Amino acid sequence: MKNVAIFASGNGSNFEAIVKAKLNCDIKILICNKSDAYVLERALMLGIDSIVLKKEENIIKILEELNIDLIVLAGYMKIFSENFVSKYEGRIVNIHPSLLPKYRGLNAIERAFNAGEKEIGISIHYVDFGVDTGEVIAVDTVSVEEGESLDEVEAKVHELENRMYPKVLEGIL
Ligand code: GRF
Repeated sequence: MKNVAIFASGNGSNFEAIVKAKLNCDIKILICNKSDAYVLERALMLGIDSIVLKKEENIIKILEELNIDLIVLAGYMKIFSENFVSKYEGRIVNIHPSLLPKYRGLNAIERAFNAGEKEIGISIHYVDFGVDTGEVIAVDTVSVEEGESLDEVEAKVHELENRMYPKVLEGIL
């Protein structure tokens, strides 16, 4: 069974969806870089060990101690160094709320919505040296209906993410 570390910085809805999906893997730890992130409370409720770490050297130490095979990024708002990515190349997966290569980076849903996109997507991809540039593994979309607000569209996108990410991870595992 593969050992997995999930990385998150904020709300943690994808983290919770992945844990609840009971995938065929051992989720060893949640690694978080923000001590007030809600995802830490979710980890406590779900019985997953968590740690707040900011320095990559400390992160690498933990990953090695726990023999982590796969790193799953779920709203982790920090860019890794080239050294880190080379070490775990092909073993870091991320989810991004756009149809990559469109709308890389921050506030992707808002930018797509403001641009008048009728379909807003999510992409699950491997992480390489760029920001949201790695090989895409899976995509899916929701349509934006006439009169829908940004909040409503964001809720639909997040719901799709929470459904799709565990399924795609299952395939990878
Ligand atoms: C998601 O929209 C994900 O695509 C992006 O960050 C957000 C994390 O949401 N990378 P949550 O913390 O999992 O609720």
